[in-house]
Amino acid sequence: MTKTVALAFSGGLDTTVCVPLLKEEYGYDEVIGVTVDVGQPADEFDEAAETAEALGLDHYVVDAKEEFAALCFEGVRANASYQGYPLGTALARPVIATAILEVAKEHDCAGIAHGCTGKGNDQLRFEAVWRDSDLEVIAPVRELGLTRKWEKEYAAERDLPVEGGNEGDWSIDTNLWSRSVEGKELEEPGYVPGEEIYEWTSAPTAETEELELEFEDGYPVALNGEAYDPVELIETLNALAGEYGVGRSDIMEDRMLGLKVRENYEHPAATVLLSAHAGLEALVLTKEERDFKRTVDEQWSQKGYEGLVSGPLVQALEAFIAKTQERVTGTVTIRLEGGQARVVGRTSPYATYSADAASFNTEDVTGSIEQEDATGVAKYHGFQERLAKKVIAAAKGE
Ligand code: ARG
Repeated sequence: MTKTVALAFSGGLDTTVCVPLLKEEYGYDEVIGVTVDVGQPADEFDEAAETAEALGLDHYVVDAKEEFAALCFEGVRANASYQGYPLGTALARPVIATAILEVAKEHDCAGIAHGCTGKGNDQLRFEAVWRDSDLEVIAPVRELGLTRKWEKEYAAERDLPVEGGNEGDWSIDTNLWSRSVEGKELEEPGYVPGEEIYEWTSAPTAETEELELEFEDGYPVALNGEAYDPVELIETLNALAGEYGVGRSDIMEDRMLGLKVRENYEHPAATVLLSAHAGLEALVLTKEERDFKRTVDEQWSQKGYEGLVSGPLVQALEAFIAKTQERVTGTVTIRLEGGQARVVGRTSPYATYSADAASFNTEDVTGSIEQEDATGVAKYHGFQERLAKKVIAAAKGE
């Protein structure tokens, strides 16, 4: 019986050298390459297809853009951010891993492999999904301790098709939700990058534009009065807000294995949607809900970063989030200005807000509350602190 392994395939150097290695070092007869579409640019698919053809590799492309966009929108409901990063690469990984596992099962594969090194997050995110199956999980680059230098020499010896790659350039990961740039001088936290690292965003100018975003149950559903499906909305907003330089971030990121790395990201649509969603929650949710939800959101983001998006904790967090989002319906006006997506207006039928109560016009206060009712509250406010200060002073004999 032929022993087949499914390989997460991009056509880059790492995954290309994995193809012969899976046969020679791991005893597989056949390798199939799987590329999952989570919104990468077209040239990445061309590169994968060309390299696969040159290698004589059976190559499958799976479109998972909708599943990925749906997960990004769960991220919006959770105000997802890990240290300032809206989790583009992180959330894509479980979607990609699941799609590859399905192809592997369809082809009766005995193994499933990726080309990640032992330093990053992606190996953990992929394997968290794959180790739930009984397939052999293989990471040749990590397990054989390969270096880029060794891979290049091996590729040259074997005449493997690797010249198409972006050798010497930044290390880039692009999908619908974000574009990440790392490597070269960017590894130095003090290095100030120029405009050349950006592809989705232009440097902000004095020009501004206003957008109206509509949400239903915390999900973004329309832009400027027109309904959009999630993939379209993200693509449209990336183009629109990118022109105003919205959604750039340069962060020091703590990876799962403890390594601290410098990361640059572009995520115009994510910034617009997350800002608008937070603006609507601020109008609708009570203070107590907002305080507690920050903790829930933080936990969701942490699990999202880890690529663990379907465990019991996340399901419980999402149950709480879903309850709060029943009222996160309404419209937010965002102004793209100076590289920012600023909330400049919001309306909702569920606004926990009374203009009368908040107004300085104290004549018509809601219900039966009078201004003078605050006197008792004002007397008590800070009572315990005043008492504590007195006790401390007395005990010290002051
Ligand atoms: N550090 C990010 C993460 O772990 C993204 C890394 C993307 N990879 C790259 N080669 N740029 O989610």
